[in-house]
Amino acid sequence: MCGIVAYIGSKQCQQLLLEGLKRLEYRGYDSAGMAVLDGSKITLARAVGKVSNLEDKLEETGGMRGTLGLAHTRWATHGGVTEANAHPHTDDRVGIALIHNGIIENYASLKTYLEEKGHVFKSQTDTEVLAMLIGELYEGDLEKAVQAALREVTGAYSIAVICEKEPDTLVVARKGSPLMLGIGNGEFIVGSDPSAIIAHTTQAVPLEDYTVAKVTRSGFRTSDIHDVPVTPKVMQLEMDLEQIELGSFGHFMQKEIFEQPKALRNTMRGRLDTREGRVVLGGVSKFDKELTKTRRVTLTGQGTALHAAMIGEYLLEDLAKIPAVAEYASEFRYRNPIVEDNTVVIAVSQSGETADTLAALREAKERGALAMGVVNVVGSSIARETDAGVYLRVGPEIGVASTKAFVGQVAVLSMLTIYLGRKRYLSADQCADLMREMELIPEKMERILESDARIRKVTERYIDRENWLFLGRGYNYPTALEGALKLKEISYIHAEGMPAAEMKHGPIALINDGMPAVFIANRGRQYDKVMSNIQEVKARGGRIIAVATEGDEQIKRLADEVLFVPDIAEPLSPMLTVVPLQLMAYHAAVLRGHDVDKPRNLAKSVTVE
Ligand code: F6R
Repeated sequence: MCGIVAYIGSKQCQQLLLEGLKRLEYRGYDSAGMAVLDGSKITLARAVGKVSNLEDKLEETGGMRGTLGLAHTRWATHGGVTEANAHPHTDDRVGIALIHNGIIENYASLKTYLEEKGHVFKSQTDTEVLAMLIGELYEGDLEKAVQAALREVTGAYSIAVICEKEPDTLVVARKGSPLMLGIGNGEFIVGSDPSAIIAHTTQAVPLEDYTVAKVTRSGFRTSDIHDVPVTPKVMQLEMDLEQIELGSFGHFMQKEIFEQPKALRNTMRGRLDTREGRVVLGGVSKFDKELTKTRRVTLTGQGTALHAAMIGEYLLEDLAKIPAVAEYASEFRYRNPIVEDNTVVIAVSQSGETADTLAALREAKERGALAMGVVNVVGSSIARETDAGVYLRVGPEIGVASTKAFVGQVAVLSMLTIYLGRKRYLSADQCADLMREMELIPEKMERILESDARIRKVTERYIDRENWLFLGRGYNYPTALEGALKLKEISYIHAEGMPAAEMKHGPIALINDGMPAVFIANRGRQYDKVMSNIQEVKARGGRIIAVATEGDEQIKRLADEVLFVPDIAEPLSPMLTVVPLQLMAYHAAVLRGHDVDKPRNLAKSVTVE
């Protein structure tokens, strides 16, 4: 979604801001803009489309000079994708420029109030209302004006504000939308995401909700919106530049698919004690007493994270024998859910900032559940608000289509299952067997990745087909959903995923001559049933692409294409079977000439409802 980068220091900041915007491009956006304050004058530029359009514009107009500035990538919510709606927005009174992520929910009433006071608006955005309000309340102190304005606002925001009357001040604030203040050497860099600041510093203060920071060239102070001082917590960013750079890969998605074996090794490192048959999870163990009493687990998330949560549901019931259900966070939060005593809610999220998942978590906490997080981004909102949690440790995920985070989520949920199962029905030997299987996954994944060229060839054969089915059963039903989501989100091919048996209840009508049906048909308890489903599709002219277990001769006779994966215990199989599906989606998008890392309409982190 929208991205923020801001700078105050001694360097000319135009280039630095542009580089920050480029690092935020992966989040998804449709326009970009920048404002730089040079002594007493703000210069502003905005452009629809890519950051490179803004760059061209700056070049044409001779660029901007100044050592204090803001820049933004906008993902439209209020008002269409136009230059007038792009940020920064300005007021019409004192020379304020502002950028904003989030949504000001009461913007309509504030706008009416401001119009009555004579302010004239140039955009359709909620953000311009906030810029005007700060201007209206300005009495010679930008920090105070921002605090006063934010006291009037409902909704979510992270903002950065400058004012022509205060050339040594940058004011930033946050509620419900991430923002961090990077502390450099005689300079400060603000970013909505660490990737915007990591090139300059690894020391940062992640702002808490309702915190306002006044930043000058010599230091900063943090307070709440009522001006009560807040003690800043400085943290060390664990990201390095190499992790957020492409290296020799064509796209971040491709890099991240190929990084999965390494990422999984990191996820598991130090957590599997096969000798004792137990999993070691530091962020959970202090709640052991409560966890032993767990009567029910609700797993929640959106998109890919929900698919991982669904696998978690199967794992917890099948292996740990704990009643579990996976549910869209967006449904859970509004449906008045029953949360019984001893319920654990697990929020699954790569970014830790997904608005619906965060809200579902808060709802569950409010109703007395123990809140657990399975999150990738350290220090993110969900990570901070959960009672207990396990980080994925897969490193920054830049590609909009989630890949390595998915396998990290499934790996963490597998470990959590063993952890909780050991407290109930699983023996130390059973746990050790599962853990030994887990340890082999990275190596098995590497073998699948070696067949990349073949997977590309298979994809090429079906690239003109506009409708695809993805079918699986049991643990690999969520994998089928994930395969379909990957294909549709980056290649814009219509794809549906479903339990293989469900096909007969309607979707079978779609099957026509040559329609690709991807079956996840690895060895498992329902193998024979999947074989029957394959026959049903084949009989109607569908083309079968099967993901199957190495050495399966039977499937070779049935399927048009077979993509083999190494043998593995069924509950852990989604971590392997998903890999060929990720590669197929990737190649389909490349073959169709799409921008894999910036799919249309999508944002990396969905921080609005
Ligand atoms: C799909 C994808 C999305 C996210 C979803 C949740 O490839 O990336 O479906 O999985 O928006 O995001 P997080 O995991 O950040 O909560």
